[in-house]
Amino acid sequence: MSPLWGARLLLSLLALAGGVYAIGQATCVEFKSSRSTFSIVSNKRAIPILVSPDEWPGVQRAATDFAADIQRVTGVKPSITNVTTSSSSAVKQGSAIIIGTLGKSSLIDEIVNRTKLDVSSVNGKWESFIAKQVSNPLPGVESAYVIIGADKRGTIFALYDHSEQFGNYTVYPPSWLVTERTLHASGVSPWYWWADVPVTKHAELFVASSGCSHGSPTVKYRGIFLNDEQPALQNWAAEKFTNGTGAPLTGSPFNHFFYTKLFELILRLKGNYLWPAIWSSAFNIDDTENQPLADWWGIVMGTSHQEPMMRGTPIEWNLFGQGDWNYTTNSQNIYNYWVDGVKRARPFESIYTLGMRGAGDC
Ligand SMILES: *[C@@H]1O[C@H](CO)[C@@H](O)[C@H](O)[C@H]1NC(C)=O
Ligand SMILES: *[C@@H]1O[C@H](CO)[C@@H](O)[C@H](O)[C@H]1NC(C)=O
Ligand SMILES: *[C@@H]1O[C@H](CO)[C@@H](O)[C@H](O)[C@H]1NC(C)=O
Ligand SMILES: *[C@@H]1O[C@H](CO)[C@@H](O)[C@H](O)[C@H]1NC(C)=O
Ligand SMILES: *[C@@H]1O[C@H](CO)[C@@H](O)[C@H](O)[C@H]1NC(C)=O
Repeated sequence: MSPLWGARLLLSLLALAGGVYAIGQATCVEFKSSRSTFSIVSNKRAIPILVSPDEWPGVQRAATDFAADIQRVTGVKPSITNVTTSSSSAVKQGSAIIIGTLGKSSLIDEIVNRTKLDVSSVNGKWESFIAKQVSNPLPGVESAYVIIGADKRGTIFALYDHSEQFGNYTVYPPSWLVTERTLHASGVSPWYWWADVPVTKHAELFVASSGCSHGSPTVKYRGIFLNDEQPALQNWAAEKFTNGTGAPLTGSPFNHFFYTKLFELILRLKGNYLWPAIWSSAFNIDDTENQPLADWWGIVMGTSHQEPMMRGTPIEWNLFGQGDWNYTTNSQNIYNYWVDGVKRARPFESIYTLGMRGAGDC
């Protein structure tokens, strides 16, 4: 267990300016079968993936990425099935991958209880996970590779960590740094979509029976701030994610089609936090699905240095605010504007920026 994620995300950003960084880590993936491995795909067959219907939707979604990643690497797609503790005996699978979050997946809680699996190293620990083979986890399942997160993102990171390890070791190359060496290195790279990093192919895929684990990241919130996004990112997004027209009120192309691609990248990089585009955009106004989907995927949202209390300025203020952006002369209207932002964000995981700069960062 090495708390490297904070450093890795930072280094991946530093890699934009410097060289290519390959960061070693404990591996759980194997490419050759042995007595100490557990088969994920062999003889062109993939073992099924089991999840719990009461699991976080964001974990359910990441499990579909995990299955797609296994297919990207091997050409064989595993099934994903919802299993409850009462229906598990009907599964009748010799072996399975079982994915879930402690305290959120009744399936995983049952398995921990039945097998007396020791989860004390991760239980209650922010974004941590363990994965390992266990015997007789459920009636009808002789053996399973269980992937257990301490919380929503712990489970999601466990899945993406395995996906990356489907190659040799981990690097995060931006497209202009992709070299012969980095191509071999990636399994399913976090950048597979954004930078077209090719996926390493393997006919068969195994994991170490002893599995792998990761503790809490050293840096609690790790993310991306889209800034100076005009014209490059904005024009690209308009071409890629709209049918020629941006959002009705702002003209912004940064809709949920764009953001869900970004959420996936952040999570694959083991990040958790985003400051959205602001130049001619307002995250919640550009697409009303943006904010709920961020939370649903597992991303913590904030707003940038010039946008207090989860509301945009100047774009959103100019649309909905009243009077000047000046707390000396217009405090009640500005206060109410912020209260509305907090009420809107209340159901979601958010970090509030405090303080006030001039409208438009001046
Ligand atoms: C499992 O159940 C949940 C909750 O009903 C649902 O959202 C999800 O799509 C189901 N997943 C599968 C693979 O059937
Ligand atoms: C754990 O197992 C014991 C004995 O089998 C049972 O009494 C208890 O209710 C279980 N607890 C949970 C949380 O499933
Ligand atoms: C590991 O990477 C090297 C190149 O760096 C490549 O030749 C080799 O095939 C890779 N092995 C696996 C198992 O992917
Ligand atoms: C663009 O048009 C296609 C086909 O009608 C539709 O499926 C898609 O959702 C549209 N995209 C946007 C961003 O409106
Ligand atoms: C806010 O209003 C006060 C009082 O009229 C004024 O002195 C100050 O310059 C204004 N601030 C800005 C940033 O316009």
